[in-house]
Amino acid sequence: MKKKILVLYYTQSGQLRNILDSVVSDIKDETDIDFAEIKPEQPFSFPWKASSFFDAMPESVLMVPSPIQPLPEEVISKDYDLVILGYQPWFLSPSQPTSSFLQSEYATLLNGKPVVTVVGCRNMWLNGQERVKELLQKNNAKLVGNIVLVDTHPNLISLLTVIRWAFKGQKEPSRFLPAAGVQDEDINNASRFGKTIFNSLANNTLPRLQEALLQDRAISLKPGLVVLEKRGITNFRKFAPYIRKKGGPGDPNRKGRVDLFKSLLLTGIFILSPISTLTAKLQQQLQRKQLKKAVDYFRGVTFEEGRL
Ligand SMILES: Cc1cc2nc3c(=O)[nH]c(=O)nc-3n(C[C@H](O)[C@H](O)[C@H](O)COP(=O)(O)O)c2cc1C
Repeated sequence: MKKKILVLYYTQSGQLRNILDSVVSDIKDETDIDFAEIKPEQPFSFPWKASSFFDAMPESVLMVPSPIQPLPEEVISKDYDLVILGYQPWFLSPSQPTSSFLQSEYATLLNGKPVVTVVGCRNMWLNGQERVKELLQKNNAKLVGNIVLVDTHPNLISLLTVIRWAFKGQKEPSRFLPAAGVQDEDINNASRFGKTIFNSLANNTLPRLQEALLQDRAISLKPGLVVLEKRGITNFRKFAPYIRKKGGPGDPNRKGRVDLFKSLLLTGIFILSPISTLTAKLQQQLQRKQLKKAVDYFRGVTFEEGRL
């Protein structure tokens, strides 16, 4: 009998769906694959308005769930051999629809199932994946693999293009900037992961799947990211409850604090970024051994509380 795979995902622009289509493109014939999209009851607009974009930080970071549309009955009742969960980080945390799904009644379909996560993002995904690991564990699911596709342009370039994409909806290159998001070539080449997943499922070697995926270059992670993410998420965790004290999403009472967060974030990114990159590099030199261990951990699929 064919192995049954459920591909669950959320996407605004369609990028994540393209990545997932590529991942399973070479194993479609030998497996029984269903796709199910996570849809919030109140969709997030895309392109974003600046006011709602920055306003989405507190609930993303604190993983405050909001209602999602019911998943199809046939998906809920089918007994899958493997679930592939495709998601993206928002504000160094799982996107709100993803964390809402993982905390919803529909997440019971993950109970006892092996899960492969597929992340498509700009380049900062570590805390997002830690929180997903945590929620998968709460749902009694077993994370067996993780594939991460990032925009490989230099940090500042990917920031400018993701901003153009998020606020203008323009993914295509412009005069001075390349296309936004994960490069097409990397999306196409993600088809190499399908066979690795399939073989592992067919040969009952899922506990060793991540080793095989890493050999397929499923994750490229530089130690500097560990330093920068830790700094970033520490600040977001302080700011998120501070904003929420003034009200929930879209509440005009919290606008002043959201605007303050926006100004500080943009200052941090565009003005302080050369300094913070330099101090992160210094920290990297001083904590080389420790960071090497951290990189090994973040490339893996085990979950240890308090890593980020
Ligand atoms: C509100 C928001 C916050 C984001 N924060 C991050 C982030 O922290 N790290 C990151 O690598 N990418 C971040 N991104 C980029 C997304 O992870 C993702 O690559 C992009 O939104 C395209 O995903 P899609 O498949 O939903 O279209 C963010 C995007 C949005 C809209």
